[in-house]
Amino acid sequence: MSAGTFPLVGRSVNRMGFGAMQLPGPGVFGPPADQAVALGILRRAVDAGVNHIDTSEFYGPRVANELIRQALAPYPEDLVIVSKVGARRDEHGAWLPAQTPAELRAGVEENLVTLGIEQLPVVNLRRHPHGEVDLDDQLAAMESMVDDGLIAGIGLSNVSLDEYRQAARSITVACVQNAYSIMNRSGEDVFDACQADNVPFVPFFPLGSAFAPTNPVLTSPEIQATAGRLNATAAQVALAWLLGRHPCVLLIPGTSSPAHLEENLAAADLHLDDQAQGVLDGLG
Ligand SMILES: NC(=O)c1ccc[n+]([C@@H]2O[C@H](COP(=O)([O-])OP(=O)(O)OC[C@H]3O[C@@H](n4cnc5c(N)ncnc54)[C@H](OP(=O)(O)O)[C@@H]3O)[C@@H](O)[C@H]2O)c1
Repeated sequence: MSAGTFPLVGRSVNRMGFGAMQLPGPGVFGPPADQAVALGILRRAVDAGVNHIDTSEFYGPRVANELIRQALAPYPEDLVIVSKVGARRDEHGAWLPAQTPAELRAGVEENLVTLGIEQLPVVNLRRHPHGEVDLDDQLAAMESMVDDGLIAGIGLSNVSLDEYRQAARSITVACVQNAYSIMNRSGEDVFDACQADNVPFVPFFPLGSAFAPTNPVLTSPEIQATAGRLNATAAQVALAWLLGRHPCVLLIPGTSSPAHLEENLAAADLHLDDQAQGVLDGLG
């Protein structure tokens, strides 16, 4: 992979990573359709050089973490597993907030057990959109887990610029994970701040997400036309554009498909010419 590397909690990670959210069953709930395929995807990603995997206890729940452990433990030394806390699932798969300091700690402890590790390299505090728990209280809870050796770095997810700035005043922000893609530039202000601060920016939904009824990225006529002209796929164009935005961008595209994994990995080698860059910059 020729996308290069960028430091994440002081460790050099390849900018093309992998997001594990598509590995569990439909709706990110329950087991995968084919366990062997899911395990194979994780192993292939790591064999190809991926050393940054994004996951969470609430993917499945537990399923993504258990697949990662089964596929990859004992873990390669250079692998940086990033998890997140701040949500939980009910028995029907609904997504519920789990934002209190006690819930954040419980979430980290569960991640450690299912992943089979003693310390998580990074845990993202995933803020609930209506953020009713005080951010400083949450950061204090996260910091206490750093002090206890449960986590090495604290990341932020779903944060506004104000929240990012507030957090950056009291902690070292390991990374920021917000929604961002060619077609969704709503988080540009936070992305700009990460660039200025040299903080890794990890866009989620880089391919437009599995939740959207009509995928805004992969069905975009302009992205498809650009892909056709460059003999690439729309997904590859979307990922290459993100990589080109700034060296601090770390990608974690999610897939349940071995063929899509290969496509996504190869996007690290796709060059966007000036014409493509002009068209894509103008979208969103
Ligand atoms: N912090 C947060 O709140 C948050 C929220 C959402 C996600 N995340 C993280 O971000 C990662 C990425 O986001 P995401 O997985 O939700 O969305 P995404 O990467 O934007 O898109 C995933 C969707 O794209 C499809 N896809 C993947 N590669 C493809 C390809 N080459 N060609 C065509 N379709 C392709 C997948 O289907 P197939 O399975 O069929 O390939 C799936 O439907 C997640 O895995 C998760 O780790 C974090």
